[in-house]
Amino acid sequence: QSRNLFHYNIALIGFMGSGKSTVSKCLKDMLAMNEVDVDTRIVEDQKMPIKDIFAEYGEEYFRNCESSAIISLKDCRQTIISCGGGAVIREENVKNLKKNSRIVLLTASPETILERVKDSDERPILNGNMNVEYIKGLMERRAGLYKSAADIIIETDGKNIVDICEELIQSL
Ligand code: S3P
Repeated sequence: QSRNLFHYNIALIGFMGSGKSTVSKCLKDMLAMNEVDVDTRIVEDQKMPIKDIFAEYGEEYFRNCESSAIISLKDCRQTIISCGGGAVIREENVKNLKKNSRIVLLTASPETILERVKDSDERPILNGNMNVEYIKGLMERRAGLYKSAADIIIETDGKNIVDICEELIQSL
């Protein structure tokens, strides 16, 4: 089993605010792996913040950037890949991630998600929709995509970060 840690990446997927970035940073230290954040890649490539990419070029353009960024990770190994919450929308992204990664889905309740994201203005998908009903609805619309992409599912509600990472490592 531990061979996986040498040959595979760990791709973290899940809704906005499910804890992907935080878990990624902690896991990277615990497992001495590399770390790549797909959104950060896009921001570096496009030289503008995610919300500006959405505002200037629209969601479809952003999704194209996201797909290209995921393709560009094809030679990564021993890396924690932290994906944007919408990475599972395109089947090709999931297919590309699956080639070299175990896919780990982080979940949290809509109430927890709202608590974690409510003060952020960096998430255009939630612009004007920062409420539990909208989050719940979008989460339900994406639920099937998240579940079918995931090799492993870790619930994060009410758990501290170290416990989440330990549970994740145990399940690899
Ligand atoms: C998105 C999630 C964001 C970012 C973009 C779109 C989504 O990433 O990729 O704003 O569609 O769920 P985080 O999940 O890191 O917030």
